[in-house]
Parts: sequence; structure tokens; C-alpha cells
Amino acid sequence: MEVTGATQIPAISELAAKAQKAFVDKFGCEPQCAAYAPGRVNLIGEHTDYNEGFVFPMALPQVTVLVGRKSEGNLCRVLTLADSVDAPNYVEFPVPSAETPLKPGTPKWANYVKGVVANYKGTVVPFDAVVISSVPLGGGVSSSASLEVATYTFLDVLTNSGSDISKKDKALACQKAEHEFAGMPCGIMDQFISVMGQEGHALLIDCRSMEGQLVPMNDPNVVVLVTNSNVKHELTGSEYPTRKKQCEVAAQLMNKKSLREATMKDLEEMKSKLDDVTYKRARHVIGEIIRTEEAAKCLELGDYTRFGKLMVESHNALRDDYEVSCPELDELVSAAMEVDGVYGSRMTGGGFGGCTVTLLKKEAVEKAIQHIQKRYSQTATFYVCPPASGAGPLALV
Ligand code: GLA
Repeated sequence: MEVTGATQIPAISELAAKAQKAFVDKFGCEPQCAAYAPGRVNLIGEHTDYNEGFVFPMALPQVTVLVGRKSEGNLCRVLTLADSVDAPNYVEFPVPSAETPLKPGTPKWANYVKGVVANYKGTVVPFDAVVISSVPLGGGVSSSASLEVATYTFLDVLTNSGSDISKKDKALACQKAEHEFAGMPCGIMDQFISVMGQEGHALLIDCRSMEGQLVPMNDPNVVVLVTNSNVKHELTGSEYPTRKKQCEVAAQLMNKKSLREATMKDLEEMKSKLDDVTYKRARHVIGEIIRTEEAAKCLELGDYTRFGKLMVESHNALRDDYEVSCPELDELVSAAMEVDGVYGSRMTGGGFGGCTVTLLKKEAVEKAIQHIQKRYSQTATFYVCPPASGAGPLALV
């Protein structure tokens, strides 16, 4: 769908063709296989995954692609064409063994690839590969998970037999890569949706049972607009583990395994024993888990008005109780909510910058883009995003 003011998202085949050409230039032969994995936008259910709660993301049409082939010798050689990664854009590392395990290092972008190679459940063979991505980096839409899952899927197609594990275990292996090689103690949402997303569907994930339930999201009159604030405040590194810890403390004080087990009543009863910050963090999480389950039901019923209200409640709780928003995201959400035909809007992802997600009538989308840009103090980038499919192999032409 072409929309004035929105950035056109390149087709996966277009990305693969570019990577293929770069591969020939770099390695002097044709690549033999390719795979892709999408970024994600979370519709609702923020900072709930590591509390065993519900999340409700969908896979994006923006993807990371790897093309490559098996090589001689013992090296994995990887070139990235992705924008704004740290230099150098080319790395070589040996196939890991018990004596020479892989370790994270620089450049940082390569840690996601190395982490997956280190955690791959099949036998890693030496390979050459080129990476390309249309997922905005640092935009809170899981560029890192898409690189991890694309790498895992690439290794599966490279070795033919695949690693032969379930989709859930594949997502868990990629999450482990992020924990160990990027030092980010993330939950399971991003890798899960990148593996399991389906076109025309959002996925309600129960992060306690690790079960996903697909919910159709293909009303032609409704659109998901992702707006990149194009700001990233450098807080995320320390703030995320701090929030996670605060949630663990709150759950412990309430004698619960996780905040998933706690109710608002439990929280109110414990209020005097919790400091104000811990209380607010828990209030967001407990409320957000309830909102997310309800939102999935609203989507099934086509009740976009209620869905939108829940999105705004979610944003307000993330801003006031969880304190992971920022002025730019708040501006984008307020501006969106001023437009007729907008059901709801909220920050999405970890926070402190990155993107907002807005649910709106299709007929309102151009007007919304214009209005949001006019009211926003910086320059935003807009993407109209139909729910896309999870990772898979790609045929090269
Ligand atoms: C990041 C993490 C996810 C999730 C979100 C917040 O994207 O990778 O696991 O915790 O933040 O909802």
C-alpha cells in the first residue's frame, strides 16, 4: 500500500538481490542459500515478558536477510550492508570448538551472529555470508532479534538438515545468544515473534507457558502505523536490568513466583511494605498483563475502539509508573490521538526512544502522518505495516 508521507518498505527479494550482488563482489562466487527473519512491533504488553505475562506483537514486513554458502577452511566470514552499524562492517571468526569457544567483542553487530553460531543446536560448518536489513536499527522494533533469528535460520538452510529443534527452542537459543553475547537480559517476546509470526495475524504469547495464539488481524479498513521518533536515549543499557530486578523484588515481597501470579488486590495489600517506585513498577506490570489479554479479545471481536483505549492506558502506565517513555514518544502519542480515525497509540518496545505504534482507520492514515509530523519537534519516519510472516528460507534467483 503506497501512502504519502510513509517510507516504502523494500521487498524481501529486493534485499536478497542486493546482498547477492555484494556477496559476488566480496567473495567472488555466487551464494547458495538465503534466509530472512522479521523485526516486530508490539501492539500491547510491554515489559511483561520477563514477568511471565502476556505480550501481543506482530511480525513486521521489515526483515533481516542473510545470503551465503559453505566455505573451505575453518572460518566464518560475514559482511554486513546494514545501515548505521559500528565499524568494521566485515568480520572473520573460527568455527567454535570446545577448546576455542566464541566470545563477544567488537564490532558489536557481529556479536548477534557469533552468539547464534555459539548457541546453534546443529553442527556449524564454515561459511561466508552477507547480511542486509530493512529493520530500523535501535528503533525498538527488534533489529537484533531479527538478526539472531535470520542467522539461525540461515544456518539451518546452510546445513540442509537444519538443527531439527522446535520453533520454541529456536527462539530460546536466539534469546540465549542475546543474553550471552549482547549482555541484554531480554525476555522471550522478540525472538518468539520473529520465529513464529504469521502474515495477517498478531500473536498473543503467554510467556509463562510459552504458548502462542494467533489472532487474525486482516481488516482492510484498519492500519498499523509505526512511527520512528528517530531518537534513542542512552539509558536502555542500565535501565532495563534495573526494571527487571525491581519486578523480581516486588514479586518476592508478595511471595509470588513472578508478577504474573499477583493481582491488584495482592499489590494493594502489600502497599505499605513496598517503596513507592517498586509499587509503581508492579502496578504497571500487573495492569498491563490484564490489558493485554483483554486487547487480544477485543481484536478478535473487531472492537478497535476499546483496543485503542487499552493502548493509551498502556502508554500512560509506561510513562508514569514504569518510567520508560521520553518526551519525544509522549509527543508522538499525543499528536496521534488528536487525529480523527485514530483508535489508539503507544510507545512500543523497551522505551527511551524508538517507535510508537498507532492503530487507526485506513482512511485516516495520510492525515495522521501529516498531523503527527507537524506537531512533532523532530523528524519522524512513518511505516504502514501489515502483519507479516515469521522467519523462513529464501530462494535465490
Ligand atoms: C525489549 C526486550 C523484550 C521486552 C521489551 C519490553 O524489546 O527485548 O524482551 O522485554 O523490551 O516489552
